[in-house]
Amino acid sequence: MTRIAIIGGTGLEDPDVFQDKTEVSVENTPWGEASTIWKGKLNSVEVFVLSRHGKSHELSPSQVNYCANLWALKQLGVTHVIATTACGSLREEYAPGDLVVVSDYIDMTKTRTYTHFGTSPTGPKGIAHVPAKPALDEGLRQMVIKVMKDTDVSFKENGTCVVIEGPRFSTLAESKMYSSFFGGDIVNMTLSPEAAIAKEMKLHYASIALVTDYDCWKESEEVSVEKVLKQMKTNARNAVKVLQKLIPLVAEKDWTAERNELTATIDGSVM
Ligand code: ADE
Repeated sequence: MTRIAIIGGTGLEDPDVFQDKTEVSVENTPWGEASTIWKGKLNSVEVFVLSRHGKSHELSPSQVNYCANLWALKQLGVTHVIATTACGSLREEYAPGDLVVVSDYIDMTKTRTYTHFGTSPTGPKGIAHVPAKPALDEGLRQMVIKVMKDTDVSFKENGTCVVIEGPRFSTLAESKMYSSFFGGDIVNMTLSPEAAIAKEMKLHYASIALVTDYDCWKESEEVSVEKVLKQMKTNARNAVKVLQKLIPLVAEKDWTAERNELTATIDGSVM
């Protein structure tokens, strides 16, 4: 059975669009406490909503307990995760207001727990060498693209996201390196290790990145929290339009073939 979770990033932490919203308590996971999770309905479909940075944005990107969050969703029977995230743009064509269906990432983070195998005495043991191509679930990604084509939003079908440790934004030299030398399209602080751990846990995971700023590579542009939050108000409305159409489609589809493929990939990766 398909069960969907939405991970709400900055500016999308507590959307009021979900009906019958109640907080769900999940027992402590092998990695400690997960962020706040709600159960609610979107277009009559039951969904879980996890607030990545906590109820009042108390967790920095480095403090988010990625293993605990995804494990908690898994315990609730979740099979599909649609993550949302604010991001900066690394190129002119990706404009503030655009939604990006992330297709790949470059991990520049430094201090995180990158796997749920062998990282907690009470979690699963072993070492998993999971292929990271594709970086995100292609079946779910294609469904997101299809919905965006049918919705009145400005979006990009692909985008490589450079993931930085934060919490500070990039220096000018870093920002220029990410756009020109790395070939990144957007930049955020949370896609890694979230995407990789979701895959390890056999969760179908796609990410919708909402462009809030041009980072600092662009002449006369600066990034600030104020700018990010202001732009997220508009972006969040567009993301919700997409989610309202997307959720029923994900819930209706038979994902058996995709689930079997993902299961075989992960089971074959554990030593
Ligand atoms: N999130 C939103 N804007 C960002 C930026 N410019 N860099 C990293 N993360 C971001």
